[in-house]
Amino acid sequence: MHTERTIREIPFGAMGGVYAEDDIDAVMSVVQAAARPGGSFFPLPEETDFQNAFADHEGAARAIAVNSCGTALDLCMMALGVGPGDEVITTPLTFVCTATCAIARGARVVFADIDPATLCLDPHAVRQRITEKTKVILPVHFAGLAADCDGFDAIADETGIPIIYDAAHAVSTRYKDRPVGGRGKASCYSFQSNKNMTTLGEGGAVTTNDEEFAEIVRQKKTFGYVYGPELRVVTVGFNYRLTKVQCAVGLTQLAKIDEVIARRLEAFRHMQRMLEGVEEIIRPAGIEAGHGCHLYVVRLDTDKVTFDRAALLHVLKNKYKVGCAIHYPALWSWEVLAQLGYSERAADCPIAAKACRQVFSLPLFPHTTAEDCEYIAWAIKQSLVEAGK
Ligand SMILES: Cc1ncc(COP(=O)(O)O)c(C=O)c1O
Repeated sequence: MHTERTIREIPFGAMGGVYAEDDIDAVMSVVQAAARPGGSFFPLPEETDFQNAFADHEGAARAIAVNSCGTALDLCMMALGVGPGDEVITTPLTFVCTATCAIARGARVVFADIDPATLCLDPHAVRQRITEKTKVILPVHFAGLAADCDGFDAIADETGIPIIYDAAHAVSTRYKDRPVGGRGKASCYSFQSNKNMTTLGEGGAVTTNDEEFAEIVRQKKTFGYVYGPELRVVTVGFNYRLTKVQCAVGLTQLAKIDEVIARRLEAFRHMQRMLEGVEEIIRPAGIEAGHGCHLYVVRLDTDKVTFDRAALLHVLKNKYKVGCAIHYPALWSWEVLAQLGYSERAADCPIAAKACRQVFSLPLFPHTTAEDCEYIAWAIKQSLVEAGK
């Protein structure tokens, strides 16, 4: 088939938020104030203001700002005392640090399967994997779609096992019309560059309704300090702080997050319409159900084609210049996990194993236009025909 459109380049962008004058002004005013005599980069009051605003936005009593979602997860594992002999149950379809946060503490990761519609960890599958060693359950709000929070609450109520959500994709995600940040024991957010909001490239937060847990996380993020008439160090801690400048930008990013999500949602909706009826492509679920619209992840329905995802993406990327990313290869396929004995066979999660071979993310961001969506959909249809030749 001959192409009837001009080839354009649509890269998979590294910037998920929107930066504007307000963010630049926030940076400048912090730097200018710090540079005056007596000034400093000590993070208050921006840190407190940002934490309060973020907790409020995500429906939690407390937020603790940290320098990444990876460190947020590490802190939660440490605060819960995860260690050798423990098992942490999670999904195979996630970024590597959802598992390595537990492995780093000496625990073993146990994989449970995902829901084939939402691609999130399935509470029914988790129940089959619980043992007396299960220390934590770690679901991911995959791509911005909420995991089954009620299902996980029921498990926590019955077993007492804490739920820590990986909410890296979930700034503004809603479950049953409420933000997800107050669910479970805690949630770990990311403000890294391609996320829904970003604090100058890196950043994260832990949200929780548990004051005692919040205090342990707060101490551990800052060398175990307890402030008072005398500074005390009460636990082993680290320096995982977000800087004053980043906290100030967190506030400006948060002020426009609803507008950013609305733009993302518009692009997601348009792409859903553009791909309607393309039977080789499985579109994402839950777009109208509080989806945070972080990643637009489609699946190549490998039961309906004679080629694999690599063949399709080869044409899509090289001929039609549409940048795609894979979120994610199955966790057991990373060398670090394979070397520790994790494997597809041992994990025994057939739904996730299949999904990990089918998924790819299209370049949808707040700046994506209807025209971009139309081009991407056209390029996918062309590539489906050509990959099969
Ligand atoms: C699901 C998931 N968890 C955790 C992280 C780690 O986030 P950060 O880069 O803020 O450490 C990411 C980053 O992309 C992610 O996608």
